[in-house]
Amino acid sequence: MRVLILGSGGREHAISWKFSQSKRISGLYIAPGNGGTAELGTNLNINPEKEDQVLQACRDNKIDLVFVGPEGPLAAGIVDKIKEAGIAVIGPHQEAAQLESSKAFSKDFMVRNHIPTAESRTFTKASDFESYMKSITHRVVLKKSGLAAGKGVLESTDQEELLHFGKEVLKTDSLVVEEFLEGFEVSFFVLSDGKNYRVLPPCSDYKKAHDNDEGLNTGGMGAICPVPWVTKELYSEIEQSIIKTTMDSLNKEGLNYVGVVYIGVMVTSKGPKVLEYNVRFGDPETQPLLSLIESDFGNIADAMIKGHLDNYTPRVNENNTALGVVIAAEGYPGEYNKSIPVQPIPEDTEDALIFHASTSIDAQGQLVTGGGRCFTSVGIGSDIISAYSAAYRGTKFVNFEGAWFRNDIGKKFYEEA
Ligand code: AMP
Ligand code: GLY
Repeated sequence: MRVLILGSGGREHAISWKFSQSKRISGLYIAPGNGGTAELGTNLNINPEKEDQVLQACRDNKIDLVFVGPEGPLAAGIVDKIKEAGIAVIGPHQEAAQLESSKAFSKDFMVRNHIPTAESRTFTKASDFESYMKSITHRVVLKKSGLAAGKGVLESTDQEELLHFGKEVLKTDSLVVEEFLEGFEVSFFVLSDGKNYRVLPPCSDYKKAHDNDEGLNTGGMGAICPVPWVTKELYSEIEQSIIKTTMDSLNKEGLNYVGVVYIGVMVTSKGPKVLEYNVRFGDPETQPLLSLIESDFGNIADAMIKGHLDNYTPRVNENNTALGVVIAAEGYPGEYNKSIPVQPIPEDTEDALIFHASTSIDAQGQLVTGGGRCFTSVGIGSDIISAYSAAYRGTKFVNFEGAWFRNDIGKKFYEEA
């Protein structure tokens, strides 16, 4: 099987790593990829959102299967075009991708299918939004409906700030105003073959930039898998009320979803509720999550594209915990410099796995950062404490000017343990 992976983040490095270990793989291409994927396959310097470039790359390299990593190409409808060209693809088509690309679409889907979620209202006019805000007394969260790379949500108690943010969003998009939910967050990654599904172990992501969940929202500064707070009982409740209902509703509505459904859940005192759907694996959750998958990734992909997930259960290392720490560029999530040289990363990083994100190899053959989130160090251990220690030992092998990371990934579970 000749595989093309679209994307360039830590998630795509982890996906490439799993595919590179597969016995089924006879060619591995990543577009555009990063400095890490270049060591596992061939990076193709194309834009993964441009159908003509992707289809040409498929023809040139005799690709049998495309795996779409990020949301951009999915929202742009790349899957529809790849399918039309007769090539197998993992990722939802454009209509289904609206579960992520339109929060308004996603909310409507949840409400009409009775999937537990926060109460909400969608606005298109600033005047309606302003009068609604004057009429309510409960705390709310504002969400830009369209894609915003993790930066389209405002949680604030400051009325002025809320009004300003909402009116800015309404200049270009619709606005979802949602009841503020309290509890703890957990994410589920569900593999779907269009009819059957398999749920992977739960993950917990750290969205805020700094320790103790302070600072701005980011794409995610670290993640842990599985999540100790998800007991067997809680898992069964979420599986019944949210996961099964979501997957049955996708089938009932004829969305023929082949790909990964990411379900962000808030566990509240009134039960678990959906915060959001994404239509892909999470980043950085994928880095620890896939580190625990023991099955051949080519077999998983094959079951997904052939509709055989009912006969195939991915094998997961259930005795271990994996923990990922993101190493970011100075200034992120604000402005940051790019092209900062990275000191060579040794082959032996002790018991940590180092996944690249924004890196590339420059014309002089030097590994350089591309800014933002640059690497993820993943540690695996028999418990959270050992996974934490391994991941943080890994961070010392990644050195570039201005590199920084959170120091408390997994700690809230670790301190409890
Ligand atoms: P979303 O893109 O919808 O997942 O929102 C990004 C983050 O904002 C979530 O991971 C939560 O941390 C927070 N958030 C979103 N919706 C709510 C809500 N209704 N109540 C509390 N926090 C929320
Ligand atoms: N880590 C959050 C996301 O991938 O959307």
